[in-house]
Amino acid sequence: MSPDFPTYAPSEEQELLRRTVRELADAKIAPHAAEVDEDSRFPQEALDALVQNELHAVHVPEAYGGAGADALATVIVIEEVARACASSSLIPAVNKLGTVPILLSGSEELKKKYLNPVAKGEAMFSYALSEAEAGSDAAGMKTRAVRDGDHWVLNGAKMWITNAGVSDYYTVMAVTDPAAGTRGISAFVVEKSDEGVSFGPKEKKLGIKGSPTRQVILENVRIPADRIIGAEGTGFKTALATLDHTRITIAAQALGIAQGALDYAVGYVKERKQFGKAIADFQGVQFMLADMAMRLEGARQLTYHAAIKSERAMHGDKVPDLTFVSSACKCLASDVAMDVTTDAVQLLGGYGYTREFPVERMMRDAKITQIYEGTNQIQRMVMARQLLK
Ligand code: CAA
Ligand code: FAD
Repeated sequence: MSPDFPTYAPSEEQELLRRTVRELADAKIAPHAAEVDEDSRFPQEALDALVQNELHAVHVPEAYGGAGADALATVIVIEEVARACASSSLIPAVNKLGTVPILLSGSEELKKKYLNPVAKGEAMFSYALSEAEAGSDAAGMKTRAVRDGDHWVLNGAKMWITNAGVSDYYTVMAVTDPAAGTRGISAFVVEKSDEGVSFGPKEKKLGIKGSPTRQVILENVRIPADRIIGAEGTGFKTALATLDHTRITIAAQALGIAQGALDYAVGYVKERKQFGKAIADFQGVQFMLADMAMRLEGARQLTYHAAIKSERAMHGDKVPDLTFVSSACKCLASDVAMDVTTDAVQLLGGYGYTREFPVERMMRDAKITQIYEGTNQIQRMVMARQLLK
């Protein structure tokens, strides 16, 4: 290929990264995935392996002690970890989600203080936007932050917080001016060790059982005023601008789950014999596999395209369609993941429906990708608003 012809694919370096992460995930993460799911326990082995190989928060810029991986490389890491274990892929994904608000809007002091420990693997970061009564309508939140001299005092409860209890740091969105609507919401860094922070019990979930989902309860949590992320009243914008970058990582998680299910199904149909031959010889089975792979590749290309746009936006380029492509890839990849994993169960027949085989776990894990970081109805609403504005 002519060196002048622009490539629209991962670089050689990014493909090398994929191979490295795949080998690591196959060796150190996949062997524990079934047990992590069965016991609903945090995948500590995955965290250790990711930290040892500096893959737990690859997106943190070099200036703050990180690997400085671009958005596409980050997608590839999450994809490959999710191919082995969806719960484990929430380690790099949520470390990114929790820290992007600081990267986008935080002061230099906040960046230095909070990004370095995450880059070193000494701390994890979570993102706390949702509440019990404010999910899709995130602006309906009730958690309050009131200024008191050199401090802010936070009260309220954030619901569904991924990796709550495990993470040391939390980006918390709270109302600072109830009369100002979305312009009266601000973002803060709250530490697990702050007095008044506690956690609800772990939710008992259908999938991603290894990733703890808990309430973060804030009772008179008094934090220094400089823990605000950006100017007062800009927290909702920061929260949504963050999701423009991180819905792409949920798409990556969905792609990885679907790829894991497809790979397993391809291997299985070549071995399983019925009517005297491998079921892979039946055209009905072949067409299912072809559709699964075709749709997965389509979703992957859109996700990579969105990742490249995200990276450009992070470098200060104007990318007017970032909101659209980010919602589009999350919505498409998660719908594809649900279909592909369901078809993988189908291709394994009765065996696919049992816990002896990994595809039913993958199907359960895929479901969440249609719900979190905004349900797919909300993604369609976001896309339509972009089209009609
Ligand atoms: N970037 C920056 N600013 C944005 C923006 C964006 N992408 N989208 C909107 N805004 C701005 C608007 O311009 C507006 O600003 P002005 O006041 O200056 O006009 C302000 O934000 C409010 O915008 P809207 O009026 O559009 O807000 P809304 O109340 O109608 O809500 C919404 C918009 C899209 C529905 C939003 O609430 C939403 O995305 N809901 C889904 C919630 C969600 O995704 N939660 C994810 C939780 S994290 C999670 O789930 C973690 C995990 O998976 C691991
Ligand atoms: P609701 O908003 O009550 O929606 C219920 C149904 O109504 C959905 O089908 C929805 O699509 C539909 N609906 C709502 N409004 C509309 C509309 N306008 N048009 C059409 N349909 C609509 N949040 C965080 O802040 N941080 C996290 O780390 C985090 N992690 C999560 C982990 C898990 C396992 C789960 C389950 C959730 C997590 N969430 C997190 C919250 C998640 O983002 C919300 O669950 C999600 O945004 C949906 O909100 P809800 O559950 O309140 O559903």
